[in-house]
Amino acid sequence: MRIVLKSKYTEACAWTAEYIADRIVQFNPDKNRPFILGLPTGSTPLGIYRELIQKFQQNLLSFQHVITFNMDEYLGLEEAHPQSYHYFMWENFFKHIDIPRENVNILQGKSPNPEKECDLYEKKIADRVEIHLFLGGIGGNGHIAFNEPGSSFQSRTRLVDLTRETIQANARFFEGNLLQVPSKALSVGIGTIMDAKEVLLVATGKTKAEAAVNLTEGPVTELVPASALQLHPRGIFIMDREAAAGLSEDSLRKAEQ
Ligand code: PGA
Repeated sequence: MRIVLKSKYTEACAWTAEYIADRIVQFNPDKNRPFILGLPTGSTPLGIYRELIQKFQQNLLSFQHVITFNMDEYLGLEEAHPQSYHYFMWENFFKHIDIPRENVNILQGKSPNPEKECDLYEKKIADRVEIHLFLGGIGGNGHIAFNEPGSSFQSRTRLVDLTRETIQANARFFEGNLLQVPSKALSVGIGTIMDAKEVLLVATGKTKAEAAVNLTEGPVTELVPASALQLHPRGIFIMDREAAAGLSEDSLRKAEQ
């Protein structure tokens, strides 16, 4: 696992966006050979999306032949709900780039049959053979997507319960009202993410410091879902200084600046 350490949030985002853009450009995707990209929501990726939009506007990058799969969606929220991940993705990224609507895949939170929706989503990913690059954030409790501590490393797309900690963390988007935060979500599994050819996880800010140490130096354990990255042959963990505050001297020495 590569560790990349940047001084602050904006630099971690710039590095990550540059990496993703390079990958897409080098792949040189076309209609018959699209680039398959896994994407997250949350505060962390916002700066990365801004950088990618800028690269698109500067004609450095096109998403015409990129197919995306988002990690998760809240159960029960309409696409048009301002806190749905559909809404988030279109507002913060997709509407600013040239991705064709049919290339965007996001789980349906309002599906009448969420279990079937999850199975079909997993199959849709499998039909693409592999995701070339999966980008993700991590939760303060070490979750990736909505795979909370204790989720199996083999897990696939499914309906999950959110922990109280995650509901509390996400209440900031629901006027601070815990009761408004859905308690369930549809989420890709840890296995789904780790099957990607490359996985990039990004952690910034001091609320991620404990999870960042656990991911980097702790044992590989299902109690810290993000620690699965240690086993990935092409895993990269990108941090800023605040998130890296608890890392040992040894890890800091190994980190690429
Ligand atoms: P955040 O969420 O980017 O909003 O901190 C990350 C996550 O919970 O996975």
